[in-house]
Order: sequence, then structure tokens, then C-alpha cells
Amino acid sequence: MQEERIVSPSVIGEEQDEPSLRPVRLNEYIGQEKVKENLAIFIKAAQQRKEALDHVLLYGPPGLGKTTLANIIATEMGAQIRSTSGPAIERPGDLAAILTNLQPGDVLFIDEIHRLNRTVEEVLYPAMEDYCLDIVIGKGPSARSIRLDLPPFTLIGATTRAGNLTAPLRDRFGVINRLEFYKEEELITIVKRAAEILKIGIDAAGAGEIGRRARGTPRIANRYLRRVRDFAQVEGEKIITKKLANKALDMLEVDKLGLDAIDRQMLLAIITKFGGGPVGVETLAASISEETSTIEDVYEPYLLQMGFIQRTPRGRVATALAYQHLDIAYDKEENENPTLW
Ligand code: ADE
Repeated sequence: MQEERIVSPSVIGEEQDEPSLRPVRLNEYIGQEKVKENLAIFIKAAQQRKEALDHVLLYGPPGLGKTTLANIIATEMGAQIRSTSGPAIERPGDLAAILTNLQPGDVLFIDEIHRLNRTVEEVLYPAMEDYCLDIVIGKGPSARSIRLDLPPFTLIGATTRAGNLTAPLRDRFGVINRLEFYKEEELITIVKRAAEILKIGIDAAGAGEIGRRARGTPRIANRYLRRVRDFAQVEGEKIITKKLANKALDMLEVDKLGLDAIDRQMLLAIITKFGGGPVGVETLAASISEETSTIEDVYEPYLLQMGFIQRTPRGRVATALAYQHLDIAYDKEENENPTLW
């Protein structure tokens, strides 16, 4: 088995020797109001009953705070957290070792839970449902199965792809939360908070520019804040202003709506190489030399949310908005009733 993963700064897009930007308590966490409101109640109720919190599934695009929330839930429950990931647990025995080492009330966080293999997943079912482990001893006719009791624990699973979870696994989570892209005001507050922690001077308009261009994603907002700080430092500026943020983000090829070079390349490919679509995601991915899963998990969700692409049964289609954004003439008649020869 790979080492149980201690989530390192590089994994979460933070830089070494800098204070963590991750909020530790629920009341420091900005945005996802509905999710927070619900979690606060479930946490309080479990604490009043002196029980482990029910198992929690967090899903949504990368960078929205699934890992952060898992850590916050453990802190709020006063529990220890053990963190690992789907691909790191290769065999049933690996998971059994993790489960039998849990203390009562512990949180087990499994990132990318959709990547657990089936034999490992089957160990989870009785563990989640009855806090027990079925172990087969011996082989052939003399094989017998024994049940080991586990301490009550909370599994928190995170995934970018809830649709890839098997039904039996999904059904065993008592709390299922989808994280949404953040609103502009929330991202601006996140940027201001991060700037304060990192002791970066920034004015309201500077934070506004970074928040607006962060594609609804705190991890991206914090990354841009650090890169804009580099520009400010090299230019000898003490404060990040709108002008400076604009200049730095333009140099990073992030446009006014937060699309980066790959987002635009993807839209441009649909329009210029595939006549506006529909085009299958695999063909599209190959045409811009990206992994299909990267397109599906990282790029497509935001482009869909912004209304730049649509998913149809025959593939991805660029919308009139995408043409407009890229300044390409949109032929309504031809796009809606394409010539097929
Ligand atoms: N940093 C990253 N995500 C955050 C959030 N949701 N709230 C506060 N700070 C954050």
C-alpha cells in the first residue's frame, strides 16, 4: 500500500513556509452557506447524542474546499482525522488495517473515493453500516469468516464524480453535499482573508479583480493572489491595486471572465475544428492534447456553468455566448440546423 497520505502543501496548492489559508472552524469558512448550515446541525445533534457523525459524502469540482470541510468537520466533532485516497488503498487488507486502527469517533477521510476498487469497496459496506469487518480465514472448504467489531467512526468521502460511485456505496452515506462554485463576493472575501493572513497589501478593487477572475474557485483565487503578489514585488509596488491585478492576470492569460488559456483553447477547438459541435469529449480532449478526465473534471464544469458549452447526447456544443466571448461570428441558422454534407 502507498503511505497513508498526509496532505502536503503541494497537494493543496499552498506554498512552503507560509501560513495555511485553510479555515479551521466552520465559522471561518466562507460560502457554501446551505452545506454549512446543515452540517452545523448534524454535528451538534451527533455531539448531543455522544455518537459519531453519520458518514458524509462531499462532491463537486476540484478546489472548492472538500478536503478543508472534511478537516473542519473533524475539528468541530473534536475527533482525529485519518486521511487517505481511493487509489492509495490497493487491497482489502490495506483498508482493514486502516479501519482497525481507528479510535472511537475518528474521521476517516477518503479523497477521490470514486477510485476505490470494487473488492476494497466491499469491505467498506459492513464497516459503514454496522461498524464491523468480515474477514475470511483460510481457503477452500475450510475457509470461514469471522466478524471483527470496529469503533464507531465517520467516513467522509470526497469526489469530483458522484456519478461514478456505485449505488451501494452512495446509499451508505447519511449526509450527501454538493459543493457549488463560489459567488464573486464570496471569492473577494476569501482573497481579502488570504491577503491578511499572508500579510499582502491589497485594496478592495484589487481583491475584486482577483475574485472575479478566479472561476468560482477559492484554490484558484489564492493561487492568483500569490502570483499577483510576485508581480507587485518585482515591480516594487506595496499594494495590489486593480491596475496591477489586471496587468498580472493578463500576463497569466486569464481573461476578464476568468477563462484561462486552456478554457479558450477548448472553446476554440469546438468552434474551429468541429464546426461548433457536437463533438465527443474524447475527440475534443485528443485535439487539444489533454486528458479526457481533466476536461470533464476541471474545465468543463465551469464552462457549463457559465453557459459557454452545452452537453448533448451527441457531444459538446459551443453556445452563442462562447462565440461572442471569443469574438467569432455566430451563424444562428447554420449552428442550429447544421448542413450535414
Ligand atoms: N480558503 C479557501 N477556501 C476558503 C473558504 N471557503 N473560506 C475561507 N477561506 C478559504
